[in-house]
Amino acid sequence: MKELAYLNGVFGPISEAKISIEDRGFQFGDSLYEVIAIYNGQPFLLPQHIQRMRIGADAIHLAYDFDKDPLEPIILEGITLSGIQDAYVYIQITRGTAPRAHAIPDGLTPTVIMTFKPMPIVAAQQRRQGLRVVTLRDDRWANCYIKATTLLPNILAKNEALRRGYDDAIFVASDGSVRECTSANIYTVNDGSIVFPPRTHSVLHGITQGFLMLCAKDAGIGIQEARIDVAALHASDEVFMSNTMVEVLGVTSIDDNTIAQGKPGPVTKKLYEAFCSRAHRAAVPESSGIKL
Ligand SMILES: Cc1ncc(COP(=O)(O)O)c(C=O)c1O
Repeated sequence: MKELAYLNGVFGPISEAKISIEDRGFQFGDSLYEVIAIYNGQPFLLPQHIQRMRIGADAIHLAYDFDKDPLEPIILEGITLSGIQDAYVYIQITRGTAPRAHAIPDGLTPTVIMTFKPMPIVAAQQRRQGLRVVTLRDDRWANCYIKATTLLPNILAKNEALRRGYDDAIFVASDGSVRECTSANIYTVNDGSIVFPPRTHSVLHGITQGFLMLCAKDAGIGIQEARIDVAALHASDEVFMSNTMVEVLGVTSIDDNTIAQGKPGPVTKKLYEAFCSRAHRAAVPESSGIKL
């Protein structure tokens, strides 16, 4: 079982994979990425992740030929070579390497990198107690549905939250509507039903979110898209977030307002169980895993 990198056709140790300093991904953040979970040696929701990457590539005119050079066999080979059963694959495709200029030259060959690493486990205390989050102004660009590597506002917001003693931040638009967390989608629960902010161009259309719509159906829980204001967020019965790494995770304090008596609520728990059951995997064991 070993961590592994892939770079333009070659597998090897992560420390040995090197890209050019003139790679546009490095210089401009001119690149896309995906994070895919591997459960028991199998990639989870792989077609959905590839489809989102295709949509992003079309949107930014990134000329990667997903049909001629499919990513799926590379991912499967990497999983086998790494031997990690519960892993995650990070994939990044940049526009390629060229002398630095804003104008995109013709005929670039995209750079493809992947890393294969063990899946971090959410710390037991965070799973049991949920996260404390703070709302911050969303000052990102207008196309957050594109999973681009230009994440400076996200990392600054995350670090501002940490610096102020919170676990994460929730981005709020200038009109007061709630968008998403720095690396996860957000949901409220009221009277047993789930609401999440509309999947506009201003939020990432989470692959986990798409899957959770099916899980909610399995569990007989109502789920719909609708605008959420900060006041409604503070007053919700429950709040939770979702992404590939944490799956479903309770939020139990927002801007120092306690949510759901400070413990992940019953709908959050039921949805998480439905997720595990539909994903055919055991609930994450409680351990002293990493703090997210
Ligand atoms: C800003 C943002 N929103 C939502 C998500 C959730 O996406 P997914 O469920 O596909 O992991 C992520 C994941 O990284 C993200 O970065």
